Amino acid sequence: MKRQAFWEDRYKGEGYLFGTEPNDFLLEEAGRLTPGLRTLAVADGEGRNGVWLAKQGLDVLSVDFSENGLAKARALATDRGVSIETLQVDLTSWVWPTASFDLVVTFFIHPPAQEQGPLLENMFRALKPGGQLIFEAYAKAQAENEFGGPDDPDRLFSSDILRQAIEGAEILLLEEKTIIRRSGRFPGKPAAVVRLIARHP
Ligand SMILES: C[S@@+](CC[C@H](N)C(=O)[O-])C[C@H]1O[C@@H](n2cnc3c(N)ncnc32)[C@H](O)[C@@H]1O
Repeated sequence: MKRQAFWEDRYKGEGYLFGTEPNDFLLEEAGRLTPGLRTLAVADGEGRNGVWLAKQGLDVLSVDFSENGLAKARALATDRGVSIETLQVDLTSWVWPTASFDLVVTFFIHPPAQEQGPLLENMFRALKPGGQLIFEAYAKAQAENEFGGPDDPDRLFSSDILRQAIEGAEILLLEEKTIIRRSGRFPGKPAAVVRLIARHP
């Protein structure tokens, strides 16, 4: 099954696959957020993060290639009394905006190895000078864990991959660690993640 069809299928049922609470790392970094920031939520799925950011007063464009996911994101926004803009795009062929966003966030997108560098570069270029990128994904060590992550280990990330892809960025945080999840599909289970916060100079 093609990736887009795979995600449309996963999001087609009732309910929210990853829940409606925001990502743990995003919550931990909430101190960086200020109302009004023009924000791009990349691969935002069913919108748990984009909608939470809108609730904090940020101006959010949520992009994903699953229309089922984005429809749920819009429904969640309505439920929470906020509005978000949504756009269905395939990130591998999208003409990415440049120097347009104060904040770019993405959580747990796992493209094939050859697409990881271009994805990071495009997210970084989408930032205005001084803008920040917040990124989290499964790290290579997640291949040893039972719950969560892509079947193909080549889709996992490492801090080296991230560092090389965003050369020229000011790295505020780059770490690989094992966390115990509070939200998402497998609360209470360990996850090996790589976390990045980078600023456009
Ligand atoms: C594991 S889900 C994470 C969703 C969301 N970030 C969250 O944390 O709840 C990965 C998301 O990436 C999206 N995605 C994967 N490849 C994509 C692509 N090439 N273009 C657009 N979206 C993509 C999927 O549709 C899916 O919503």
